[in-house]
Amino acid sequence: MDKLKKYNQMHILKYEQELNANEKKELYNQIETLDFSYLECFNKKEEKKEIQITPIKALTINEINRNKNEYKKIGLEAIKRGEVGMLLLAGGMGTRLGSNDPKGMYNVGLTHNLYIFECLFNEALRVVKEAGVMIPFFIMTSDVNDEKTKTFLREKNYFGYDEKYIKFFIQEMAPCTDLNGKILLDKKNRIATSPNGNGGWFNSLLNNAEAKKMLEDFNLKWINVFAVDNVLQKVADPVFVGATIKSGAEVGAKVIRKVDPYEKVGVMCNKNGRPSVIEYMDLSDEMAHETGEDGERLYNFGVILNYLFNVDLLYKIKDDKLPIHVVTKKIECLDENGNAIKPEQPNGHKFEMLCVDMVELSSSCLPYEVEREREFAPIKNKTGVDSVESARVLLQKNGIKL
Ligand code: UTP
Repeated sequence: MDKLKKYNQMHILKYEQELNANEKKELYNQIETLDFSYLECFNKKEEKKEIQITPIKALTINEINRNKNEYKKIGLEAIKRGEVGMLLLAGGMGTRLGSNDPKGMYNVGLTHNLYIFECLFNEALRVVKEAGVMIPFFIMTSDVNDEKTKTFLREKNYFGYDEKYIKFFIQEMAPCTDLNGKILLDKKNRIATSPNGNGGWFNSLLNNAEAKKMLEDFNLKWINVFAVDNVLQKVADPVFVGATIKSGAEVGAKVIRKVDPYEKVGVMCNKNGRPSVIEYMDLSDEMAHETGEDGERLYNFGVILNYLFNVDLLYKIKDDKLPIHVVTKKIECLDENGNAIKPEQPNGHKFEMLCVDMVELSSSCLPYEVEREREFAPIKNKTGVDSVESARVLLQKNGIKL
């Protein structure tokens, strides 16, 4: 119980006397195994470092089109040599979509079934066919959706993807706290937890023996990491892979041109000489409008959570600590009287590490522009912006029958 004292969380044992032997065991086990160090971010004083943001050059669609054949050849050769893997980030809770199922199970079809997972598998299979080889496919789930995800994909026969090349692994969970930093319980013998963000995926992959073996057996040199919810994205895109390899960069990042200077997307830049992503709220008015000699805006390319990471880089940075982001959310938990509640208002904090922060740990990144209308249809909400509705419109525009 030293751990509870160290983190000032003795209240977790509030109901200890009411628990039977098994329940006690479960709670003690969770206390022992759960990483409490997330809580340390509350005490960390940010060192005031001078931060210098400068523009980064993106490879534009015009430039890509000029060299498309060459990039495609390089990319396809790397895929054929078995050097490129795919990794689907599917551990999120998809709370904004409001479904109890994993987001990938959502059916965007209208006259026939078309699941979000299916869109991604179809795209992966297109590249498999083109390259003539199977591409190792990692899928990260979390405690909240692992079983449902696996059962669903098994039932759908992995939409035709050879299951030998699919490896699932589970990401870690982080404790949830109230607004004062006190860990919440969701049962008298259980700490409320949530997936620890999409940034810890490489360590979680290495912690899974089968996934690690596939990484090593293939001797993968590149991993294409992408979110579950962009139903139009190209995965293991040979042109993107080839362009990144040719550039010599450690990371490739698919980016879209912003629709206006204030669009709410993280923007690629250099931070103190290293590639980085600046959040839209940190972009000053002046920077948002700043243009270069050619009249183009200098901070104009937003990331879409589709990255190609060099595996040597991943091993190099695996023990580096990513920053912890504290997000304020509605968290189901026990109230002060031990009754289970579903709060109407945000009542606590979750802790997340983000994949986007890995970019800053690299020495070089190629922002690679894609056509928004052809590669960006994220499903975050049920209606409105970035929703099932808007994604359906874009899918149909791209000739996909719903
Ligand atoms: P989001 O940031 O959109 O989060 O995830 P979410 O959990 O899916 O949705 P909301 O915010 O609760 O509505 C972006 C991508 O990162 C994955 C998601 O599955 C999605 O592909 N992700 C997110 C994880 O894999 N693990 C996490 O802990 C969080």
